[in-house]
Amino acid sequence: MLSVNFAGLKLRNPVIVASATPSITADAIRKAEANGAGAVVTKSVMFPDASGRPTGGNAKPRFQLYNTPNGYDPSLTKRGGQFSFFRMQEPYPTPEKMAKMLDELKGPGGVGIPVIVSICGFTGDYASWRKLARLMEDAGADAIELNGHAWDPIVKYSDPVIATVVKNEVKIPVIYKMMGVTEDPKSVAPQLAAAGADAITGLGTFGLSAIELDVDNESPWFSSAHGLGGTWLRAVSLAFVAGIAQSVDIPVSGVTGIQCGDDAVKYMLLGATTVQVCAAIYAKGYKVLREIADGIEAFMRRKGYSSLEDFRGKALPKLTGAPPNDLPIRAVVNENCNGCGMCVESCMFDAIRCVDRETTISEACEGCGVCWSFCPSKGIELRNFA
Ligand SMILES: Cc1cc2nc3c(=O)[nH]c(=O)nc-3n(C[C@H](O)[C@H](O)[C@H](O)COP(=O)(O)O)c2cc1C
Repeated sequence: MLSVNFAGLKLRNPVIVASATPSITADAIRKAEANGAGAVVTKSVMFPDASGRPTGGNAKPRFQLYNTPNGYDPSLTKRGGQFSFFRMQEPYPTPEKMAKMLDELKGPGGVGIPVIVSICGFTGDYASWRKLARLMEDAGADAIELNGHAWDPIVKYSDPVIATVVKNEVKIPVIYKMMGVTEDPKSVAPQLAAAGADAITGLGTFGLSAIELDVDNESPWFSSAHGLGGTWLRAVSLAFVAGIAQSVDIPVSGVTGIQCGDDAVKYMLLGATTVQVCAAIYAKGYKVLREIADGIEAFMRRKGYSSLEDFRGKALPKLTGAPPNDLPIRAVVNENCNGCGMCVESCMFDAIRCVDRETTISEACEGCGVCWSFCPSKGIELRNFA
């Protein structure tokens, strides 16, 4: 039911571990397979620095998970609440280390799921990308994902030439991971497809930096944080993925903010063939991979779908662009209203009164929808007065 062909790779399900720490060692990747992953993208491989040390620094501590002002509350992520994952520098595996890992993973006692190796060459140095791709194909990679951010400076745009150079070098599928949050996916994705990419992943969030502070200590968590993940960015990535899917015919892998089956389904309804998961593994453990796959299956059973193609891209035609304006709509209280009065606080047009838990809405209502969208008891509906 969940099996899928992704750029020529046969996956038992569409849930892929995204490139990061949860796929940084052979043991981690075995664990991902044991917990139901359809494939993994390894932590990105980079050449070591001039002194032979792995690129990327070794900040300690380097991760912090945020979902409430007072710290992490697991019950919130369990209920599907928002969280964000901050990180500082961590070391990138060298080609030598990755080749050893692939040797282990592709030999006896290895894994059966596809191992997509993420590579990251130097900015503007196409030979470095070509060499990394060659080394990884020779070492047994099933596909290559291009991590286009480069290390320093952080590159915030996609470079189609990298796709062409790598595609001309290897026979395995080549996936381009878009990281430029400010790029227009509808103009850039077609360039990547024309350059030879077999698939596109989006939206990687490395190009974003952020700050969070501990107020009592009057200090930022980290002096700098990049590569944020987590549910708070999902809506941005969903829009980005829709733009990719609307503009290319090659498969798309949706990443950012997936922590349950419905999150994955959202990406698929917008055209994604597979999804990738990172921060949710830190927050909930590898078991979240099976939970996500099970959640997709539960959605399909509920809707009567027998394959992922049955609903892939189904929401795209509903993205019609401009919203309807000037409709004769007003908010009306219904029988679910419990008189909590929350809508009174949020009305900017002073149209709502709540006296003795009895709510009324006057003709001053603009039909803006704030009360309707905030109402905790679904006690307000929008009615057409035409
Ligand atoms: C700690 C950490 C390390 C990451 N390392 C890489 C990396 O090496 N290569 C890469 O392409 N993306 C990397 N990413 C980005 C993730 O693959 C993913 O695109 C991002 O976290 C959004 O997904 P999420 O919301 O599921 O976390 C990293 C993210 C985090 C949080």
